[in-house]
Amino acid sequence: MTYSRIIGTGSYLPEKVLTNADLEKLVDTNEDWIYSRTGIRQRRIAADDEFTCDLAERAALNAIASAGILNNQIDLILVATTTADQVFPSTACLLQHRLGIAGPPAFDVQAVCAGFLFAMDVADKFIKTGSAKCALVVGAETFSRIIDWSDRRTCVLFGDGAGAVVLKADNEPGILSTHLHCDGKYKNLLCVPVGVSKNFNQIKAGTAFTTMQGREVFRWAVTAMSDIVDETLNANGMNRDDIDWLVPHQANIRIINAVGKRAGIPPEKVVVTIDRHGNTSAASVPLAFDEAVRDGRIQSGHHVLLEGFGGGFTWGSAMVKM
Ligand code: COA
Repeated sequence: MTYSRIIGTGSYLPEKVLTNADLEKLVDTNEDWIYSRTGIRQRRIAADDEFTCDLAERAALNAIASAGILNNQIDLILVATTTADQVFPSTACLLQHRLGIAGPPAFDVQAVCAGFLFAMDVADKFIKTGSAKCALVVGAETFSRIIDWSDRRTCVLFGDGAGAVVLKADNEPGILSTHLHCDGKYKNLLCVPVGVSKNFNQIKAGTAFTTMQGREVFRWAVTAMSDIVDETLNANGMNRDDIDWLVPHQANIRIINAVGKRAGIPPEKVVVTIDRHGNTSAASVPLAFDEAVRDGRIQSGHHVLLEGFGGGFTWGSAMVKM
């Protein structure tokens, strides 16, 4: 049996820090409201001339360095993103060229904030079936580009960044299981209701923005991210005490705390970056994961449960043995 093992992680955050105090100058909000309702103190924002592929490249290079491999050993590249540089070619294709690789498949995966879990699942299946031996999986976003900076209900929540992992074929697990779900009937609760084929004039006018029914999204995020913890544990015959680390999507500290409580996982086993990163969509899980690997919290042999939730709705998880 072939499994995928995570042999390297990396991440990158743009330099510009946007604090809650900065936001007070843009919209009718304040530090107390933002921090108490979301747990966010600051987020990073890409420079005007910095694009999703730039963030993806920095995160990818860090992951490749930590894996100790050469770029040309990579035979699959997946980029989870909602904010691709271009309509086409895909950001994965652009990234492949930047890395000096040619030939193997590279494509984007779009599942918004759950995108990294969807991309991990696809890469894992490529490796398990022998179609790839060494996959680069990236979550990268410049979400600030699809935010209405005059809408206080959304602009305080999001930020930019990228995270990446390198997966390699191995006889030992590795990724123990992945679980993906979608339910498109909630499409209007969290969306950018504009695209190339529909309402393209809004893109040209620069008004293609994220809209959200915050309370409903909150409720669904807690339910879906709690239920998928149980689903993942059951699939592996494990119980909650077997989890060394939970790395949840970073959307709101109150969502993270509610999920931890419902799933019975104590706060000291939950990786949290929301205070410094905000919600970086598809980048949030690999960013948090990389932080906890690099600071030594996540160690070899640990069982780590990664989970994401996003517009669609989409939600997914992966149980990983490090
Ligand atoms: N600053 C100050 N006040 C704000 C505000 C802001 N940035 N944003 C909203 N408010 C106001 C509202 O207008 C409302 O005022 P009103 O009662 O006079 O109408 C009040 O605060 C409460 O708003 P409400 O939306 O009920 O707050 P909430 O406790 O639900 O928190 C969110 C709002 C968005 C933080 C919360 O619903 C949430 O996190 N939802 C999930 C969002 C998410 O995770 N999205 C991404 C998923 S991938």
